[in-house]
Amino acid sequence: MEDTDSSSNNHVIEESVSEIEEVFPGSPTSANAEVVIEVRNLRKYFSIQSKSLLFTKTLGYIKAVDGIDLQLFSGEVLGLVGESGCGKSTLSKTIVGLEKPSLGQVWYRDANIHQPIDKVERLQIRRNIQMVFQDPYTSLNPRRLIKDTLEEPLLIHHPEMTKEDRLGAVYKILQQVGLESYHGYRYPHEFSGGQRQRVGLARALIMNPEVILADEPVSALDVSVQASILNLMQDLQSEFNVAIIFIAHDLSVVKHVSNRVAVMYLGRIVEIGPTEEVFDRPSHPYTVSLISAIPFADPTVKKRKVILEGDVPSPVNLPPGCRFSSRCYKVQDRCKEEDPILELKRGNTWSACLFPEDEPVLFFEER
Ligand SMILES: Nc1ncnc2c1ncn2[C@@H]1O[C@H](COP(=O)(O)OP(=O)(O)OP(=O)(O)O)[C@@H](O)[C@H]1O
Ligand code: SF4
Ligand SMILES: [Mg+2]
Repeated sequence: MEDTDSSSNNHVIEESVSEIEEVFPGSPTSANAEVVIEVRNLRKYFSIQSKSLLFTKTLGYIKAVDGIDLQLFSGEVLGLVGESGCGKSTLSKTIVGLEKPSLGQVWYRDANIHQPIDKVERLQIRRNIQMVFQDPYTSLNPRRLIKDTLEEPLLIHHPEMTKEDRLGAVYKILQQVGLESYHGYRYPHEFSGGQRQRVGLARALIMNPEVILADEPVSALDVSVQASILNLMQDLQSEFNVAIIFIAHDLSVVKHVSNRVAVMYLGRIVEIGPTEEVFDRPSHPYTVSLISAIPFADPTVKKRKVILEGDVPSPVNLPPGCRFSSRCYKVQDRCKEEDPILELKRGNTWSACLFPEDEPVLFFEER
């Protein structure tokens, strides 16, 4: 393994095409959906280094994303869940091109996102894949009026537009996200958290992208504001027919907004399928434990909770076999030797488990 970019803590592995397995879990939820993003054997490793005056020594690698194959279909919302540190943000940043993969590829239609063939293709990728962050404040220039921030991508991608046309587009998108034209003449600090997230959505949508990566877009907001932003996102998603990868900690939010859901554990997808199928009949024990932890407010029924015991292994020293084995309630000897691959288990649900749940798990019992 050769460390080619230690300054940015990036680890780049030489890619061998023959190593790439062409497995793309999941199926479109609508018949005429097309593949817009294809992730092939994606890995993102961060090096851990010790630095002295003369030497920099690589001590190991954090395997933040460790072999992901995925397809995103036009117009769908794919929810991405998993506990803190499992690699959700790293995956989304690598898909959008903010991080360089250590191995593997990400394709936007027939363009390799990390190796565009020319400037035109690079611009086309940038225009069509946008990101919405948890706190847009950190990604908005505090010294620029919102209208200038919103106008900027139009200047780059549509140099033919007149000043009036650009302003017209800015006012229109502000209105579409529930703001007024005069909000364009404010600075980021003059907005509430919810309004700032509306600005974040406006900035992502002004280019009419095909894909949005939304990394915990409502986690920092109050519950009431969360609901209004989620409703707005749903309206805009169907209006713009944009495909969204929606990252969230809150499974009930993911259930509400997604057509499909992918569950991540320590850099891998362990289960992926249509939302209803995954929530009604989870197959992977980790998914079972996540669903069992969703609060349920009905005093007449009791919800069975699957409490995970054992520690989460370090993404630097992953155990052999199944990486969930140290916490799994179904673990058997074989799990500690064999690394399960993501396979179609039932319906359209794929899961990486040697002993998946075959029968529906009973989460509720009467009190
Ligand atoms: N730039 C970086 N340099 C080194 N390690 C990193 C870097 N970015 C992320 N990591 C590590 O990669 C792993 C995955 O992090 P990531 O932020 O992708 O997780 P996450 O699933 O988004 O977590 P959260 O739910 O808390 O946002 C973590 O162990 C994290 O410490
Ligand atoms: S392979 Fe074994 S340890 Fe891993 S999730 Fe399945 S049952 Fe649990
Ligand atoms: Mg994150």
